[in-house]
Amino acid sequence: MNPIQLFDPVSSTYTYILFDEASRDALIIDPVAEQLQRDLDVLREHGLTLRWAIETHAHADHVTSAGLLVEHAGARSAAPEGCDIGTAAVQLQGGQELAFGSQKVLALHTPGHTAGSMCFVWQNGSAHHVFTGDTLLIQGCGRTDFQSGSPEALHHSITQVLFALPDQTTVWPGHDYQGRTHSSIGAEKQNNARIAGKSLAEFVNIMNNLNLPKPQRIDEAVPANRLSGLRQDAGGDALMLVRPAQGYAGDVSPQLAWAWVQAGEAQLVDVRTDAERTWVGFVPDAHALAWKQWPGMAMNPEFDAGIQTLGAGGQKLVLLCRSGVRSIAAAQRATELGLQAYNILEGFEGDPDANAHRGLMGGWRMRGLPWRQS
Ligand SMILES: [Fe+2]
Repeated sequence: MNPIQLFDPVSSTYTYILFDEASRDALIIDPVAEQLQRDLDVLREHGLTLRWAIETHAHADHVTSAGLLVEHAGARSAAPEGCDIGTAAVQLQGGQELAFGSQKVLALHTPGHTAGSMCFVWQNGSAHHVFTGDTLLIQGCGRTDFQSGSPEALHHSITQVLFALPDQTTVWPGHDYQGRTHSSIGAEKQNNARIAGKSLAEFVNIMNNLNLPKPQRIDEAVPANRLSGLRQDAGGDALMLVRPAQGYAGDVSPQLAWAWVQAGEAQLVDVRTDAERTWVGFVPDAHALAWKQWPGMAMNPEFDAGIQTLGAGGQKLVLLCRSGVRSIAAAQRATELGLQAYNILEGFEGDPDANAHRGLMGGWRMRGLPWRQS
């Protein structure tokens, strides 16, 4: 089975939807913000449940819809760890697999177009597919003259990583400007004008003399894509801003808190009770330090000592509770103790809706951030 190939004519970007025929679980690669409704329609027409929205790299020519697909379709986002996309729920490492139903894609780290760029391999029955982003294009390759690009690294990625795939592997590029849809590893080995029959030095010389204009949208697209495209959302700018607060360092969105944790700038502290973590779920990277405890929701006498230990390194503390109430009290207390403490808005579950159900009105879980149930 082939992937569903979709095209954005403004940026000449290909987006791909892969799915498991039995379970209808799906994964989307390189979605484009302006095509959000089209992609949601395609998912609905095929009866698909989107599990993953993933990127080959932080694009310079279009803005991703990954953040919006998390909100609208309940997907989780994943991006290469070297691309500085701190809002992605999963930071992909080379060799890592993502599952959708009984299918999976394998991430290959292929630096060169950007330092973090990845390609994704999908083996569906006897058919091999590779989604190459801007690393390998039909008869070409992505440029290497900005965004941490390197012609030497790209040469290695194409000749040693991609050309090691079976010749019959179908190549699905991130772009084509001439209406071509796909190629194969064997055909690109034979015919790719940039690389076939060329030495490393010849390739580097070609790449360093392309003299391409700066992409029109780079100054807008790259910062937006580092936020999974959420700048496009109404209020998306505010998502990554600290909001001022009384008595503690500030209020932050779950997305900003997670970006800080992934960047090593903050410690995530879960101030809910042990029972809530057990029954409702927890964030694997969080430190458990209850503000109040059962029985009776009495103050936890260990809180002060525990929070001082966590803050001893001078890092920010981002405090998570059920819906963002206890975490304010805990942040105020941590501030009194001389620590830099922030409240995470919406908490783990968000506020209750009109039917008193939690989990649908924001919160860490609904935002697609990592969590588990024990
Ligand atoms: Fe690119």
